[in-house]
Amino acid sequence: MKRGETMNTHVSRGLFVASAVLASLIAGPMELSPRAFAHEGAHAQPPWQTASAWPDRIVVTFAGDPARSLAVSWRTDASVAATEAQIARATPDARFDLAARTVRADTERLDLASVPLASEMFAIEDNAALAPVGYHSVLFDGLEPDTLYAYRVRGAEGRWSEWFQVRTAPLAGPVRFVYLGDAQNGILSHWARVVRAAYAKAPDARFILHAGDLVDRASRDYEWSQWFKAVGFIHGMVPAVPVAGNHEYFRLGSDQDARRALSILWRPQFRLPVVDGLPAELAETVYDVRYTQDLHVFVLSTQGGELDAQARWLDAALKASDARWKVVTFHHPVFSSGRGRDDEARRKILLPVLRANDVDLVLQGHDHTYARGALDAAGGQTPERVSAQNAADGSVGPMFVNSVSGAKQYVWRENGWDDYADDGVTLTRRAENTQFFQVIGVDGDRLDYTAYTADGQTYDRFILSKDAAGRRMMAAGVASTMSERRFAGTMDYPGADDLND
Ligand SMILES: [Fe+2]
Repeated sequence: MKRGETMNTHVSRGLFVASAVLASLIAGPMELSPRAFAHEGAHAQPPWQTASAWPDRIVVTFAGDPARSLAVSWRTDASVAATEAQIARATPDARFDLAARTVRADTERLDLASVPLASEMFAIEDNAALAPVGYHSVLFDGLEPDTLYAYRVRGAEGRWSEWFQVRTAPLAGPVRFVYLGDAQNGILSHWARVVRAAYAKAPDARFILHAGDLVDRASRDYEWSQWFKAVGFIHGMVPAVPVAGNHEYFRLGSDQDARRALSILWRPQFRLPVVDGLPAELAETVYDVRYTQDLHVFVLSTQGGELDAQARWLDAALKASDARWKVVTFHHPVFSSGRGRDDEARRKILLPVLRANDVDLVLQGHDHTYARGALDAAGGQTPERVSAQNAADGSVGPMFVNSVSGAKQYVWRENGWDDYADDGVTLTRRAENTQFFQVIGVDGDRLDYTAYTADGQTYDRFILSKDAAGRRMMAAGVASTMSERRFAGTMDYPGADDLND
């Protein structure tokens, strides 16, 4: 094996390249599944992985005010060097398209087989046989709030996608969204049913939040081909809010301290906000979406480095927001639910910010288990609020959820969340050996959360409400008739190592 060539990342060094992109590199430890070290068997390249002059991998995201703009990204082969998209109001008229306006796309050519980073060229062996591709995106702006639009995107001349319908955010009023934990393994074979069940359960969901580890090997195009095949047309119609997990980063070298970089596909395929004042390496992985007057979502990249800078930005952004419901999402859980996976360093940085700002809901992944519980009121409130009220009034602090949507399942911590008792958190519901999706609704002073198993059964539910003073009360507890799911008492689980080929 040559220097720098590793089985686990399939990355090796090649030519020296002068143009450094040092900012996208990060150093530090990284979790890898055992499978990542194993030999990957050859697989036949499926026809849907191969790019053509036709557009595919079409995904809507937010890159501006979601009431007034929508971003769309798509892929073609590298022969498409310039292209465009069109948008029109979706009306009952059969030829609504005649009123469409055309927007020029931003296009970049992406070499899948090697990447220039930090003055070196790294070969990506997972993609060794793949030709370069074209990635294209537009930001449709000047749109009206809560309005249904139809858009289509083009590949080569005359090669258009179908028209997709997507609705802009309302300024206020009730909205629902879907939250999914790690997909990661068996993305097409075992995760497709979950994202499709979520869409079937909540077809009116305004966006789907993916809490990291969308794939197992960050830059491996084959896995992203599975992800886009699994979502099908869903993300052409329902915007994605993607969170970068540890598996969205890949190691550039062979040792544990090797630098890491964000998936070469992340920024080309998801057009996302760039926050001023944050390090360039965090661009399009740390951002916020002020969805409505009532709902504000904040996204961190807990594998992306500069966590102190992220925490400072989060603290300021939370303080500046007057939204009634504040949801924070990142990949590594504050309160671990997987055995041997506790991460005290990250908790010490993030928990004080979440607590000081009395965040409503924290949505996480990574531990391949299900966990849900809240800080007690005193644990979740600012000192001023605690002194102004009796902590025994029934109010609750921030709610934390860890979830998993994919087929890789881990064992729960031996002591549950007892080890975190000093932090004032209480575990309410947990599971092992179960794929989940969550539907979360916000309607004025009420937040309604339901966790569904992949077959559509309700596993966990709570309703929060806020009174005039801003106190958060638990309006309903568990409303499931399903008993707690643990490895004991459920179907045998042989692992998911055979699902990545
Ligand atoms: Fe993870």
